[in-house]
Amino acid sequence: MEKSINIFKNIDELSGFFAQHLKTKVKAIPEGQFFSIALSGGSTPRAVFQYLALNYKTQIPWKKILVFWGDERCVPPESEESNYRMANESLLDQVSIPGSNIFRIMGEARPSNELERYAKLVRQHITLVNGIPQFNFIMLGLGNDGHTASIFPGNLDFFNSEKLFEVAEHPQTKQKRITATGKLINQALNVAFLVTGESKAEMVNIILGHKEDWQKLPASLVHPKDGELIWLLDDKAALMLK
Ligand code: 6PG
Repeated sequence: MEKSINIFKNIDELSGFFAQHLKTKVKAIPEGQFFSIALSGGSTPRAVFQYLALNYKTQIPWKKILVFWGDERCVPPESEESNYRMANESLLDQVSIPGSNIFRIMGEARPSNELERYAKLVRQHITLVNGIPQFNFIMLGLGNDGHTASIFPGNLDFFNSEKLFEVAEHPQTKQKRITATGKLINQALNVAFLVTGESKAEMVNIILGHKEDWQKLPASLVHPKDGELIWLLDDKAALMLK
């Protein structure tokens, strides 16, 4: 696994780096093949999506991209809580990705059924390596508690699940969520953490600085075995690293 930590003055510079990084990875895919990405929710990914929609409408061959999600709240697609709605409004609706290339998690469905349906859909569309779907790219955020996707501290069994997706529950709101597991995340060729804001500084320092109990945090377990892991941080999130 290759790992890099990249620190930026602000979300705009972080977004610019991410956009170029994504463009390079998509363009490396041979003609006639698809590039598969699993999107994350959260305010940081939203800002990056808006940047892409504004500045990379024509610079990325969007038609080559198959869009999935790494996690979704169990809410209808029109809900303000929906990761699909957020990505659609901030990016997908504004670039030339055919609707047939967008595979949302159906947050409105029964969670236990949906995680099976979605795992099957991912297996159908994503190249299998040793029987596990291998995404070209997985985007991740980091919660203040060290969660990533919707795997929360205390739920490491979800990270280590034999399944591709699990039904999780937000520890405070008890909101049900469908989340990718470590089995899927650590199979990806490229994984990027996008983390901004001073509220993340302590967690970033624990995880990247291997401070006490760092390995109890789900985000610490993200190590794409055959892939590249990049951390994109703004100065505020990296405050304690310096
Ligand atoms: C979600 C995300 C979640 C998010 C982190 C960071 O569905 O909410 O997948 O893992 O990425 O909570 O969110 P912020 O970028 O908004 O801090």
